[in-house]
Formats: sequence, structure tokens, C-alpha cells
Amino acid sequence: MKLEKLRVALDGPGGAGKSTVAKAVAAKTGLIYVDTGSLYRTVGLYMARHGIDAYDVEGIIAALPQVDIKLTYEDGKQCVSLCGEQIGDKIRTEEASYYASAVSKIPEVRAFLLDMQRSLGDAGGVIMDGRDIGTVIMPDAEIKVFMTATVEERARRRFREQQEKGIDVTFEDVLSSIIARDKQDSEREAAPLKAADDAIIFVNDGHTVETSAEHIIGLMQEYVAKNS
Ligand code: DC
Repeated sequence: MKLEKLRVALDGPGGAGKSTVAKAVAAKTGLIYVDTGSLYRTVGLYMARHGIDAYDVEGIIAALPQVDIKLTYEDGKQCVSLCGEQIGDKIRTEEASYYASAVSKIPEVRAFLLDMQRSLGDAGGVIMDGRDIGTVIMPDAEIKVFMTATVEERARRRFREQQEKGIDVTFEDVLSSIIARDKQDSEREAAPLKAADDAIIFVNDGHTVETSAEHIIGLMQEYVAKNS
């Protein structure tokens, strides 16, 4: 098995640095980085734009056939379009996060996004980040990592990120939204946030992006050495 053909499932709670670390791993190894949270965010954005309440389960399910999502990859960067519009950072707001968490609890929404995610993993050579990648989307991935950090550490990171982007929020708001989202994501019935039995748990408090990425690349190299 070649390193550039591996499938890496990277799961864990919001704010653990999965996307930044996955991007760093992808840049160093040539894997394609697939951000699955963006799909739930895009479904959420559609509902918010159409005035459908985040908890109107029937309304959300009824609107799903109109949600036309396309993913493309340009120079290793994932671009998401919604009904023909490139949505870029419009899915990175607190409102979109809130909606994403709500819609991701609905089994019909998860089923709607399942094939798109599975087919991205089929060819190999991917690092996919999400919540259920190692358990549902790519249960046979060669490498499964459940990456997390303490709630305070994750809130500090997200707060810093939002300040850098000029978004006006308080640390307390960020902390309480992370606590609420963790609770929703881990208590929901459909694909709750949970490490796969065979995942390697990686608590990255005190790690930098660089050292976290090195840790994952180390696991990939170990796998290749054992299986070639
Ligand atoms: O990783 P993120 O913050 O962009 O994810 C947004 C929301 O989508 C989050 O509340 C959890 C949910 N999600 C999910 O249920 N399954 C995934 N594979 C990815 C994200």
C-alpha cells in the first residue's frame, strides 16, 4: 500500500483543529482533503436562506430535493457550490454552524449526503474530516484518528480564529456554543459523535498544527511500513 493511496478518517468534535491539521497533512502527502462538515453547513445555509426553521424537521426533509450541492477540487482546495453559487465562507458564520448542527441530527439529511461522501473516499488518497467518517462513511479506512482537545482549548482557538476574521463575538459566546454543539453532536441518535472502536485517540492540547500533522503522517508511514 502506497502512502498517497491511503484513506485517512479524521473525526472529532468541533474546534479540535481537524480541518487545519487535515489541510497540513494533505499538503505534505498529496492526499485530497475532504471537509464533510461543509456539506452539513451548506444544507443548513439553504434552510436558513429559505426561512425554514432549524428545528422544522419535516420542512427540512421536504426541501432536501432542491438542495443541489456540488464539490470540486482546485489545486487541492475544496470548493462547494449550492444551486450553482460558489458559497465560500458564507457557511462559516455562527448561524450556519447552528443550522449545520441541527440538520446533521436528521437521519434523512445524513442519508442525503452519504453517497457523495462515500464516493469521494472510494478511489483512496484522501484525508476526510467529520464526525462519522471512521464509523459510517469509510469504516474500512486504513487510518482512523479521533482527534480532540479540551473544551477550553478548543474555545480559545475558535475565538482567536474569529477575532482574526474580524467577527464580533465574546469568548463566553464561543465557549457556550462549543459546549452546546458537543452536547448535540454526541447525544443525537443518528450517527452520534463517537470514536470508532479501532480509532487512535489523539488529544492535541499543547500541540501545534505542525506537530499534529506530523503525528498523523507518522501513523500513515507506520501503516505503510507494516503493509508493504
Ligand atoms: O466540522 P464542522 O464544524 O464544519 O461541522 C458542522 C456540523 O456538521 C457539526 O455540528 C457536526 C456536523 N457534522 C456531522 O454531523 N457529520 C460530519 N461528518 C461532519 C459534520
